[in-house]
Amino acid sequence: MCGIVAYIGPREAYPILIKGLQRLEYRGYDSAGLCMLNKDLNVFKCKGKVSDLVEYVKDSDVSGNIGMAHTRWATHGEPNQINAHPHFSQNKSLAIIHNGIIENYAALRSELINRGYTFTSDTDTEVLIHLIEDIKTNEKVSLEEAVRIALNQVIGAYAIVVLSKASPDKIIAARKGSPLVVGIGKDEFFVASDATPIIEYTENVVFLNDEEIAIIKRNEQLKIRTVKNKEKTPYIQKLELSLNAIEKGGYDHFMLKEIFEQPRSIRDSMRGRLHIDQGLVTLGGIKDYEQKLLNAKRIIITACGTSWHAALVGEYLIEDLARIPVDVEYSSEFRYRNPIINEEDVLIAISQSGETADTLAAIELAKGKGATVLGICNVVGSSIARATHAGIFTHAGPEIGVASTKAFTAQVAVLTLLALLLAQKKGTIPTNQFRRLLVELNSIPEKVERTLKLNDLIKDIAATYHHVSNSLYLGRGYNFPVALEGALKLKEISYIHAEGYPAAEMKHGPIALIDEHMPVFVIATRRGSYEKVISNIQEVKARKGKIIAIINEGDETVKNLADHCIEIPETEEMLVPLIATIPLQLLSYHIAVMRGCNVDQPRNLAKSVTVE
Ligand code: G6P
Repeated sequence: MCGIVAYIGPREAYPILIKGLQRLEYRGYDSAGLCMLNKDLNVFKCKGKVSDLVEYVKDSDVSGNIGMAHTRWATHGEPNQINAHPHFSQNKSLAIIHNGIIENYAALRSELINRGYTFTSDTDTEVLIHLIEDIKTNEKVSLEEAVRIALNQVIGAYAIVVLSKASPDKIIAARKGSPLVVGIGKDEFFVASDATPIIEYTENVVFLNDEEIAIIKRNEQLKIRTVKNKEKTPYIQKLELSLNAIEKGGYDHFMLKEIFEQPRSIRDSMRGRLHIDQGLVTLGGIKDYEQKLLNAKRIIITACGTSWHAALVGEYLIEDLARIPVDVEYSSEFRYRNPIINEEDVLIAISQSGETADTLAAIELAKGKGATVLGICNVVGSSIARATHAGIFTHAGPEIGVASTKAFTAQVAVLTLLALLLAQKKGTIPTNQFRRLLVELNSIPEKVERTLKLNDLIKDIAATYHHVSNSLYLGRGYNFPVALEGALKLKEISYIHAEGYPAAEMKHGPIALIDEHMPVFVIATRRGSYEKVISNIQEVKARKGKIIAIINEGDETVKNLADHCIEIPETEEMLVPLIATIPLQLLSYHIAVMRGCNVDQPRNLAKSVTVE
């Protein structure tokens, strides 16, 4: 959601900015813009993609070695050229790019209008740059001081970069609630929403903390001050990201690459944690909090989107194996519903990006009530990873496709390890079952590999159904969250309406939708409520619905009933989500490609939702 890139140094800034924006495209956006500081502040912006911006500036002078660029995901005001960033201050001496939402923008705006400011856009951002100009002019302070004073008046979230015509050797950047990273090269600095635009130039980075302002000057050391005016020593970290990991590596789309990476990413998420020989699970990141978890009256798992589906699998696993009560909460609901939570509770926040605003807010709420807060995150150094007391990284590697795939299976793998660890320590699992599950879990990457070999068959099935407008996904038990995730994947990238339902609930509503045009995707693997799911399949068939079933290899019973079957390797019931999800990801992918959709950057969606 909104991408920020800025550069100052000896090189031409424009190519670095454009490449940086392209690296950030995965976050989701609807317009793009840039500002080159070359004697004047030269702003170019347009609705659409980064490629549209490149086309738009092709005959313009974009030279200069200081500049900033932005991709906007609309919040205040429709996606158009006027609302795109950068925004000028009234006298055009300052320009800003911004990610986040200024919540008190309406009050600030009317105050500024009373003081003679005029607004050209509908954005909350323009308010901030006028405010900075107002402070700078009236209080005669430096740019960084004007930014600092202005940020003290702002309620909301922001990652900003400000350039001033009068200071051609300076970039001011600040963050609160929205991520920002400063890259430090030789005589040059980069600023970006995440490390992907920076990695090919330097591995030395500083992740800004909330309410920190970076004062970046040519040929000087990076300085950081807080909004409350305290000086901070920049904490320089080495990036572990590799350039290969953020490129497509021969695949047509990032999503397909990431689906096919899953044997590796699931293995990586368990590496050094699953010890079959010793009959042990270790999770170093939460070692000091094990006792807290074991004594917890209940565990609350909070997340959004796909991560919320992983949380549901986690609930089933932890309750099933470790017998600790678990509640799963949408972060956006939890944060506003005055939940009962105290020191005896443990909250686990799951997030691929580690930047989801609602999940961050849920964490702060739980921390405020004295609960222990743990994280399951993919992005090291992310806000959620830092806001939690401790956590487990999923180690799935960078996920660029907006629709989450390998992050989901890595989250589920980590939750399985957690449930097993707690069960063993609590003594709620017989040793032979524990050992059997460890061995089976260890074989999952190989079974996922086998499942991926079904890609051609799945593509053929996609060809039969890519034209539909509605679809239903059914599963029971551990396969219910899989059904939800399958439906979410399809709607996200193909724009086909898809509903995930617990199979038995179908007769309380969705059954009314079933006719000969309705494809029903059923996860009907052998363990669990297999017979009951077969009855649900019969109910669909009786109403002429089309059945596409995910079954275990060699299951002739469902084969005789279904219109299409995808046969996956058999595993323990509680591990099925790690395998059954794969064909549903591939189905969505092929259907979306056949419909001509932009698979990696679906309309209206953002990879990392940094506003509530
Ligand atoms: C967005 C993404 C989803 C993701 C959700 C939660 O909606 O498009 O793919 O599942 O945010 O993101 P998180 O990074 O917290 O897992």
